[in-house]
Amino acid sequence: MTDSPITGSTATPAPAAAAQAAPSDSGLQPGTLIEPARQRAPGTAMIAIDAISKWYGDFRVLHECTTAVAKGEVVVVCGPSGSGKSTLIKCVNALEPFQKGQITVDGTKIADKATNLPKLRSRVGMVFQHFELFPHLSITDNLTIAQRKVLGRPKEEAHKRGLDLLARVGLSAHAKKFPGQLSGGQQQRVAIARALAMNPVVMLFDEPTSALDPEMVGEVLDVMVELAREGMTMMVVTHEMGFARKVADRVIFMDQGEIVEDAGKDDFFGKPRSERAQTFLSKILQH
Ligand SMILES: Nc1ncnc2c1ncn2[C@@H]1O[C@H](COP(=O)(O)OP(=O)(O)OP(=O)(O)O)[C@@H](O)[C@H]1O
Ligand SMILES: [Mg+2]
Repeated sequence: MTDSPITGSTATPAPAAAAQAAPSDSGLQPGTLIEPARQRAPGTAMIAIDAISKWYGDFRVLHECTTAVAKGEVVVVCGPSGSGKSTLIKCVNALEPFQKGQITVDGTKIADKATNLPKLRSRVGMVFQHFELFPHLSITDNLTIAQRKVLGRPKEEAHKRGLDLLARVGLSAHAKKFPGQLSGGQQQRVAIARALAMNPVVMLFDEPTSALDPEMVGEVLDVMVELAREGMTMMVVTHEMGFARKVADRVIFMDQGEIVEDAGKDDFFGKPRSERAQTFLSKILQH
């Protein structure tokens, strides 16, 4: 298995090599998870977060947060519980409103009244801690319903795209089952495939492995590593520092609603500048 082609923000993609590089024990099948148009193009800001502030009543949950994620970049967001990580990424696909600042996704200002939010959200894949599959729908229907209802794809096309992605995450045999018949790790892989079926321009993850039994974390991270290596633009809230070391280009550290640190992976892990990040890192790396 070759090293990740993504070693810095100027690295170029090697999708074919990346596809072949899927670890043999991950259940991932040959092929690609995303199409070439979604792959790395250094220098293009796919997500621009500009001086965002948000309050819940008197409580300021985000304070002047500014960062950008370039096309094909993988940014890991970490920080203590309650620091605003989930709120920040929910702002990116307009699941949470904010009072100050601006967020632009692939050139679209999300707080603009003219912005079509359902359309925007269909281009921003989101994977949560709790997989949030529809329990009463089969895996196939979970994979096709939004493609059909939101994108208006014909049944056959939606089916093909859904089943292709299910095969890519190694779960073809489970197409006819219901979510409750799958393990947590398998459900999360379906949730990733479902998000990818919409051809998103970016993928947001909010602690996608933290609700899983330890033995299932690896299979979900394998899919995410593969996606990163193929050049998907990703913003990932996680405390899986092994994942961050492997594929992140940058790490953002948040505390009390602020982006305290926004650094290249090597700088962040080498020596975080702030004492708060140093303390945080020393605590989580102990485990
Ligand atoms: N709907 C809400 N109303 C009021 N306060 C909220 C609401 N949602 C979140 N908060 C508060 O905002 C702060 C940030 O929450 P957020 O969920 O973004 O943190 P987080 O960094 O994702 O934490 P965790 O690591 O525990 O998931 C917390 O203090 C939380 O209690
Ligand atoms: Mg959270």
